[in-house]
Amino acid sequence: MSNDFELKSGKLLSTRAFESDDLDNLVTFFEELRGDSMRFAIPQYYDRARLERLTANLHRDLILLALDGVRIVGVAAIYGSSLPWLKGHGEFMTYIREGYQNQGLGTYLTRSILEKAKRKGYHKVTLEVVAENLSAIKAYKKAGFVVEGRLREDHFGDDESYHDVLIMGIIL
Ligand SMILES: CC(C)(COP(=O)(O)OP(=O)(O)OC[C@H]1O[C@@H](n2cnc3c(N)ncnc32)[C@H](O)[C@@H]1OP(=O)(O)O)[C@@H](O)C(=O)NCCC(=O)NCCS
Repeated sequence: MSNDFELKSGKLLSTRAFESDDLDNLVTFFEELRGDSMRFAIPQYYDRARLERLTANLHRDLILLALDGVRIVGVAAIYGSSLPWLKGHGEFMTYIREGYQNQGLGTYLTRSILEKAKRKGYHKVTLEVVAENLSAIKAYKKAGFVVEGRLREDHFGDDESYHDVLIMGIIL
């Protein structure tokens, strides 16, 4: 099922669950993520091999896409665990293409995927975010995440210095 989402610019996007046919398109999306807004993120980590693994468990995990026509412009995902002590626990990530950021899409995808996770029986979702990534933290807080902890100097950035990382979580 597909839903429409209107950016603050008025542009209309569609959002829907990832399907296995979307893999090539998703690889291209991550390959094209560049620019200053990625300085606190690691899009190069999501290469084809990793994406094949991360999209292999669609009965457990949740992957939501935002599309402009047929082009992927945003993704949010929640990855579950099969470990008994992590029952109901999901790890969250999201990326929005430059030109589509700061227009409400990250908040919308985060809220939408959390609703789906709740319906699927997830109990808790967590994420890690560089403490200076203010737009991400704002979007996550608007969707209901709270800061649960701080890992000091835990991210070595492109600027060749260490940055604190926040752990955020939401109980569904
Ligand atoms: C982080 C990201 C997912 C957020 O998605 P988005 O669509 O840009 O976010 P939204 O527009 O829904 O919300 C961002 C909010 O932060 C605000 N914001 C932007 N820059 C800000 C800043 N420097 N300080 C404070 N708030 C800021 C925006 O105005 C917006 O708030 P508003 O809706 O009240 O105006 C997206 O920007 C992105 O993909 N960034 C690059 C990759 C990345 O960092 N991913 C996260 C890794 S944990």
